[in-house]
Amino acid sequence: MVETTEATTERRFVVTWSVLLSWGCAFLIALISVIVIPILYTNKKSNQAADAGVVLRWNTKGRIVAGTLNEEGSGARQLFHPIGLAFDSSDTLYVADYENNRVQKWSMNSTTGGTTVAGQATAIMGANSTMFHYPTDVLLHPNGDLYVSDRYNNRVQLWASGALEGKTIAGTGRAGTENYELNNPWGLAYKHETKTLFISDCYNNRVVAYQSGSSNGTVVAGGNIQGKTPTQLFFPTGIYFDSLTNSLLIANWGGNNIVRWVLGASNWTLIVGSAIGESGSGSTFLNGPYDVTLDPYRNVYVVDNANFRIQMFKPDEINGTTLAGSTGRTGNSYGLLNSPYTVAFDSQLNLYVADTFNSRVLRFTRY
Ligand SMILES: *[C@@H]1O[C@H](CO)[C@@H](O)[C@H](O)[C@H]1NC(C)=O
Ligand SMILES: *[C@@H]1O[C@H](CO)[C@@H](O)[C@H](O)[C@H]1NC(C)=O
Ligand SMILES: *[C@@H]1O[C@H](CO)[C@@H](O)[C@H](O)[C@H]1NC(C)=O
Ligand SMILES: *[C@@H]1O[C@H](CO)[C@@H](O)[C@H](O)[C@H]1NC(C)=O
Ligand SMILES: *[C@@H]1O[C@H](CO)[C@@H](O)[C@H](O)[C@H]1NC(C)=O
Repeated sequence: MVETTEATTERRFVVTWSVLLSWGCAFLIALISVIVIPILYTNKKSNQAADAGVVLRWNTKGRIVAGTLNEEGSGARQLFHPIGLAFDSSDTLYVADYENNRVQKWSMNSTTGGTTVAGQATAIMGANSTMFHYPTDVLLHPNGDLYVSDRYNNRVQLWASGALEGKTIAGTGRAGTENYELNNPWGLAYKHETKTLFISDCYNNRVVAYQSGSSNGTVVAGGNIQGKTPTQLFFPTGIYFDSLTNSLLIANWGGNNIVRWVLGASNWTLIVGSAIGESGSGSTFLNGPYDVTLDPYRNVYVVDNANFRIQMFKPDEINGTTLAGSTGRTGNSYGLLNSPYTVAFDSQLNLYVADTFNSRVLRFTRY
């Protein structure tokens, strides 16, 4: 194969030069594009390969980037049991400030606190278009739209950038099992190619997909009663859409595992944790995982909530390494977590953890 290719290339090369000599310099340009473009392409590929060997490590002590030490509340500098996290392209942090019924925006290293971009700054709870009742997750579309999972209102709200109220794009406000209903919606994920929003419909033990503009959902994972077999989910919470494999990574909270559900498939395959739903605190076990994400190198990050730790799993490895927190220990020092719920990265791959019961967001700086 290699010999044939080289011989062909050589022949083409000779022919090209003879044509060039007789037909002039227009062909020189064609030749340059034929040779230079493949070389540039090859270089780009090898850079990508070099990136795969990148060193990823983080401080094990966090720094508070949102919220205040030992103080929950509804002031601008405070949070009250934050859950979902999202970043925009300038690394501004958005926080679903769960028990404050609002979404806060924190500029990087803000000294003045957060500003409310959805819900009410006063933290008042409600069911009309200006309010939330315990928002669990926030997803930021590149066009500035904020999607917010409004848990106890059983709906997902869309707040356009700068809007003073949201619009219901999924759910009816009442819990139910029909395709157009939700029951305690939790995590959100988005597939840009098809403009599909995924919602983990926690108490319905399923993940539903909503096409842009449709008020009807489609079940894409679970929906077969609560359970621990591969066709079932058990209180799914955080979700991540993986475009490379066209699948959803699901934090299957009650199954004590992270599973992959390919779109169109009728069952999950195990990524990490127990295949039969056992909880544990060893390096291959999880206990009540609430969230999952991937980095660009396909390492898997899991919020192992009841073990009070953030675990990293290299691709195809089942043994996790603790990046933040300490197994079985809870506290509010900068190295400990108290019931973490979500994890996220900024553009520099600094690691952020919603340290929910400490009412703070910690940054574990990459170095
Ligand atoms: C924020 O603070 C961190 C840590 O001190 C620093 O590395 C980073 O450059 C700061 N970023 C901005 C935008 O100020
Ligand atoms: C939402 O409810 C609050 C409190 O009852 C009220 O002040 C506000 O006018 C309502 N807004 C809308 C758009 O219904
Ligand atoms: C949902 O879709 C079904 C059929 O696909 C249709 O009969 C029904 O009217 C739709 N409901 C809503 C609320 O759009
Ligand atoms: C799960 O689905 C895959 C296709 O995605 C299929 O190949 C496999 O046999 C299924 N496994 C079970 C246990 O149903
Ligand atoms: C995982 O870690 C355990 C204990 O740390 C070790 O016994 C086991 O061999 C490891 N398994 C793999 C697949 O690396």
